[in-house]
Amino acid sequence: MSDNKKLQEWVKEVAAMCQPERVMWCDGSDAEYESILHLMVQAGTAQWLDDKKRPNSIFVRSSPADVARVEEFTFICSRSRDDAGPTNNWREPEEMKAALKGLFTGCMKGRTMYVIPYSMGPIGSHISKIGVEISDSPYVVANMRIMSRVGTRVLDVLGPDGEFVRGIHSVGAPLADNQADSPWPCNEKTKYISHFPETREIWSYGSGYGGNALLGKKCHALRIASVQARDEGWMAEHMLILGITNPKGKKIYVAAAFPSACGKTNLAMLTPTLPGWKVETVGDDIAWMKFNADGRLHAINPEYGFFGVAPGTSVKSNPNAMLTIQKNSIFTNCAITPEGDVWWEEMTDTAPPALTDWLRRPWAPGAGRKAAHPNARFTTPASQCPVIAPEWEDPNGVPISAILFGGRRATVVPLVNQALSWQHGTFLGSVMSSETTAAAAGAVGALRYDPFAMLPFCGYHMGDYFAHWLKIGSQSDASRLPGIFYVNWFRKNADGKFLWPGYGENSRVLKWVFERIEGTAGAVETAIGNLPAPGSLDLTGLDMPEKDLAELLRVDVEGWTRELPLLKKHFEKFGTRLPKGLLEELSALEARLAGEKVGA
Ligand code: GTP
Ligand code: SPV
Ligand code: MN
Repeated sequence: MSDNKKLQEWVKEVAAMCQPERVMWCDGSDAEYESILHLMVQAGTAQWLDDKKRPNSIFVRSSPADVARVEEFTFICSRSRDDAGPTNNWREPEEMKAALKGLFTGCMKGRTMYVIPYSMGPIGSHISKIGVEISDSPYVVANMRIMSRVGTRVLDVLGPDGEFVRGIHSVGAPLADNQADSPWPCNEKTKYISHFPETREIWSYGSGYGGNALLGKKCHALRIASVQARDEGWMAEHMLILGITNPKGKKIYVAAAFPSACGKTNLAMLTPTLPGWKVETVGDDIAWMKFNADGRLHAINPEYGFFGVAPGTSVKSNPNAMLTIQKNSIFTNCAITPEGDVWWEEMTDTAPPALTDWLRRPWAPGAGRKAAHPNARFTTPASQCPVIAPEWEDPNGVPISAILFGGRRATVVPLVNQALSWQHGTFLGSVMSSETTAAAAGAVGALRYDPFAMLPFCGYHMGDYFAHWLKIGSQSDASRLPGIFYVNWFRKNADGKFLWPGYGENSRVLKWVFERIEGTAGAVETAIGNLPAPGSLDLTGLDMPEKDLAELLRVDVEGWTRELPLLKKHFEKFGTRLPKGLLEELSALEARLAGEKVGA
């Protein structure tokens, strides 16, 4: 229980509406976590993994109707439609509340209502924020305990009159008397992930999966926080944070925004293939950045764990993730081996001879379908990562020297490109585009604009968000601002094969970024930005055909020129709220491309 009157009253109100069988305040203790895991196993939601292979870990299968974020049912309910902007679904707040109240009335019948106090960010950090999630899902309780700092210690910091973000979550599956529960209760028909930015509230109904249900993550730390950040002059971004140290022992910090399932977790903990270089993880998904007294942007990772894409994770691609998930982890929608361990595509070079797939069907290599769901995930404590940065919980955050943008682009976008200025960098972020992935329900592989990797996560008008980025730049001393870069690990050749080996080899690009920041690596100024000067990208020991490299670093003038009309259409969406600075950048790009064509 808490001595915070507003919290007490709100919990009472929500309980009266949802009508649960009982209310439980989560204290965040080990004993509580253990009992929640037992409860899930007993209910058939989870099974224990082999205790020798993966101690204290469970495996969960969700309903096939509930496997990813649902962008179509995600709403920003600001008072004015204009404030939600053209990229968000909008509902009038009173109308949405009325509809939600209808759905939430009695929605927890037969269930326990858990009250989960959490801190996004190190407890007590001046950058951190407190939220309380009310949920009827034990899976949410267990995952929130890994993903954020939860329990009584948060209430202690909240105190009697502290402010908090209110999150109400229900799987939307009340139980009648004597009705047997399903292993993964959810509402197959109705889902609403609703945000009320002005009153700092989140109402999530019908889904128990990931970002739909773990409200501290995307709903609070991005959608609500982006609005607070705009109001208070800081930044809430869909970015990993890493520390990189050169062979001389100099360390800088880099943040990177890539869309969902485009490589943040992998980059955050990569094992450099370049000798003498070291990468350490501060965060793998979200960064909150604020100016410090020294005038530099400092970032914290508001999270406490990783909710990472399982397929593709292997000792070869991401050994540090494989070591992190050895114990105390939750696995969702993977396949399971006869020995009681998890498996997913590409975890091993050859698949085990027999598995049970994520839908409980027998599976063998050559089955012609995937054993794990493409958005299968692990939930694992960040502290278990072997390369977690010792300063990852520093309440003051780490100073950011470089920001990377990137996405999945099979063509046009080169391996790396440095922005010419903060305004040009903001332009690059605003025109980021990427092929969609299984992290969200819907088509996979469709190219769409995903500005700053925030398309599904910006809690207000995206045009105002662009303006906020420009304002951050114009208010600062340019020499103290991070350098901005645009990277693309996903260029393909004519046969559809990736041109760049990626993963640990991305350390070569990080080295170039590091040395650009230091002022020691060369660049050629081109129409699209600064590309590596010949010889400045360290390719020692990389066996790569010259023509592939040339393709990766080529300025595709025709390709960019062909995209100009699409860029213009993209910008038109934002109407009068599109900042002038970005239009200037678009015209400048157009002029430079025309110049190169004439020059060619
Ligand atoms: P979210 O958790 O959804 O935000 O995803 P993320 O951005 O953290 O992506 P993650 O690092 O989990 O990578 C997603 C997928 O991209 C995995 O299947 C990886 O194997 C693949 N991937 C990551 N890095 C690279 C790379 O450098 N090259 C290639 N080709 N694939 C990569
Ligand atoms: C993403 O989709 O960007 C994720 C996974 O990090 S989820 O938590 O489901 O949003
Ligand atoms: Mn993400």
